[in-house]
Amino acid sequence: MNHADMIQHARQVLSDNDRGTYTVPTHGLYPFQWNWDSALSALGFAHYDEPRAWSEIETLMAHQWEDGMVPHIIFHQPDDGYFPGPEVWGTGREVPTTGITQPPVSGFAVRRIYDRARDKDLAEAKARALLPKIHAWHEWFYRDRDPEGTGLIALLHPWESGRDNSVDWDDAFERVPTEGVGPFTRRDTTHANPAHRPTDEQYKRYIWLVKKFRSLGWDNSKLHAASPFKIVDPGFNAILIRSCEDVADLAARLGMDEIATASRAMVDKGVAAMETLWSAEMSQYLCYDRCKGELVQSPSIGGILAAFAPIPKARAAALVRRIETLAGSCNYLIPSHDPTHPEFDGLRYWRGPVWLIVNYMVADGFARAGETEIIPRIINDCLRLIETSGFAEYHDPITAEPCGGPHFTWTAAMVIEILNTYELAA
Ligand code: GLC
Repeated sequence: MNHADMIQHARQVLSDNDRGTYTVPTHGLYPFQWNWDSALSALGFAHYDEPRAWSEIETLMAHQWEDGMVPHIIFHQPDDGYFPGPEVWGTGREVPTTGITQPPVSGFAVRRIYDRARDKDLAEAKARALLPKIHAWHEWFYRDRDPEGTGLIALLHPWESGRDNSVDWDDAFERVPTEGVGPFTRRDTTHANPAHRPTDEQYKRYIWLVKKFRSLGWDNSKLHAASPFKIVDPGFNAILIRSCEDVADLAARLGMDEIATASRAMVDKGVAAMETLWSAEMSQYLCYDRCKGELVQSPSIGGILAAFAPIPKARAAALVRRIETLAGSCNYLIPSHDPTHPEFDGLRYWRGPVWLIVNYMVADGFARAGETEIIPRIINDCLRLIETSGFAEYHDPITAEPCGGPHFTWTAAMVIEILNTYELAA
């Protein structure tokens, strides 16, 4: 497939999954609006339809909670093809949403779309309206998810991470009970191969947490203290720090000085705190289990995704070396878990497969850090996967087998974004 055909195909995917003011990640498996999917998918639209790119993020932010939290799913239309639906979450919103969040990549997306905008007036109006909302979300994170002011926020549910069933959560997840969860019927395994999805045991714990938080009335000021699962994820924190930085930069340019100053302070504190997650032995960052008070010795992509933040140059260089090592044990970069480790599973979601959105963010971080040599390898591997196996949700890093849902929105958006961003041989 040449690049023009690839873009054409990707646009078709976006258009098939477009519901007017938001996209669904893919038909069937994920029939609602997902938080970070939308922000990253907006980058794809922005190359040919700027108003539509803005409306994707506006729709997401229109469902922000009063305390600043932006939910991970917005259930715009009823659809019984997904579990757990609104009746399980019970958040009591007029348009139902879940009660947990997802990686806050919107600040980054707004700045990027603004910087490239052809329609500058539109971009300025949209950015002016969106920045205060995104900033309120960032403030919510540091208030309710970092109550002791460490500079790093904790996730209270694996689904918040965006890396739902990563090996990173396994040990901490053991502490989450399953008693009282009651019977339920999963829907995901009717749309996708069960071997590509989380296990039933994991699902019971996912639901236990939802019920626990629901029993606390989804009061975010109480959840951090009450949760038996509290993980500091370097990838997530990096996305938050990067978004704060992009908000700081753009707000300063638009004369929104208060937001700029407050965001800059969040970045400085966050970057300094990230150092506590560095593992010299593994040459990457690690998660930290806030309940146990220990780093999680799990070599996952979360600790590499940290490259997206303005981390020190020496750390970025070490992450490049880490990826070079990983390249020795797979055919396509970057596996979501180290293939030489026993927990690696090339087909199962976040326990091994390659995700284009992650590759894109890591490459972008390296570009920012001046670590440019590795970028063509990461980007070309994305395109080789698409050529071989299509616009799947994720791909096996050894065989390129397409996994999860097909015809996937953010995968397609990344192809459009990558082909318009990087100079590549046709
Ligand atoms: C899965 C992914 C998550 C994504 C969602 C919709 O839950 O783990 O990151 O947002 O699907 O695509």
